[in-house]
Amino acid sequence: MPGWFFPVDQAAFAWFLSRQTDAGTTGDLLELGAYLGRSAILLGDHLQPGESFTVCDLFDSEAPDSENSAEMAMSYRDSLTRRAFEANYLAFHPQLPTVIQAPTSVLADGRIRTGSCRFVHVDASHLYEHVAGDIQVARDALAKEGLVALDDYRSPHTPGVSAAVWEAVFDHGLKPVLLTPEKFYGTWGDADALTRVLLERDWRGEGFRMDEELIAGQVCHRLAKDPAPAPGPAPRSAAPQRSAARRLALDVLPPFATRATRRALRAARARRSH
Ligand SMILES: C[S@@+](CC[C@H](N)C(=O)[O-])C[C@H]1O[C@@H](n2cnc3c(N)ncnc32)[C@H](O)[C@@H]1O
Repeated sequence: MPGWFFPVDQAAFAWFLSRQTDAGTTGDLLELGAYLGRSAILLGDHLQPGESFTVCDLFDSEAPDSENSAEMAMSYRDSLTRRAFEANYLAFHPQLPTVIQAPTSVLADGRIRTGSCRFVHVDASHLYEHVAGDIQVARDALAKEGLVALDDYRSPHTPGVSAAVWEAVFDHGLKPVLLTPEKFYGTWGDADALTRVLLERDWRGEGFRMDEELIAGQVCHRLAKDPAPAPGPAPRSAAPQRSAARRLALDVLPPFATRATRRALRAARARRSH
């Protein structure tokens, strides 16, 4: 399915959400920016009885300002409809989430109950003004032990997201927990508790790379897929190995010259062996 939700984040979402469920932590799920449903479908896998899941996206409706409109035209317009999202979601789940087809700014009106969510994914507009508002929505929506995932916090083409994310860290108390190549995971609650949850899994043993970072006194971790190991030395074939000079001669010289080269090499070998 098209989308921008990659294996390392699929693993991180699944880990945090399932550990919350195992620990008896309940709460609603919220996604700002669903596109064709790639991340929403995984979020829906973790929905427990009694919890609700809300997605907010413009889909095929008008953006609220010209910059957002240009962003939509450039990135999503060709393929994106609410109907396509719903069909994709229903291919995996019997029931749709609550779908709010509108700019995410409408969520600031309090329709998401304060402190009701355990997980919020912010992945709608990537323009500073919008992301800053979306982070505020996430902050209000999240329960104390909740986690927010913020997309594209460090991509060259989304400096507005970086600005909004680090502003939230330095001015609004957001604590980093986990950084992947695409997403920033943080909390306004107990970052150390979430870090303990993160470290309960043997990420390295499962082909991930994990590094510890210290950012302005806050420990957080970086997680990425480990690159495939470099290939080892080529197995020795039964055929005798050619010297570099010989390989070069065979590659670049015309046939009559390589015949002469072969004769010269044979003569040199014969001289060495006497
Ligand atoms: C990067 S895509 C989301 C990708 C999706 N989460 C996934 O993993 O496949 C961004 C989405 O945000 C929506 N969007 C952009 N600006 C928006 C706004 N102001 N309010 C609501 N949705 C918006 C777009 O329609 C698009 O579907």
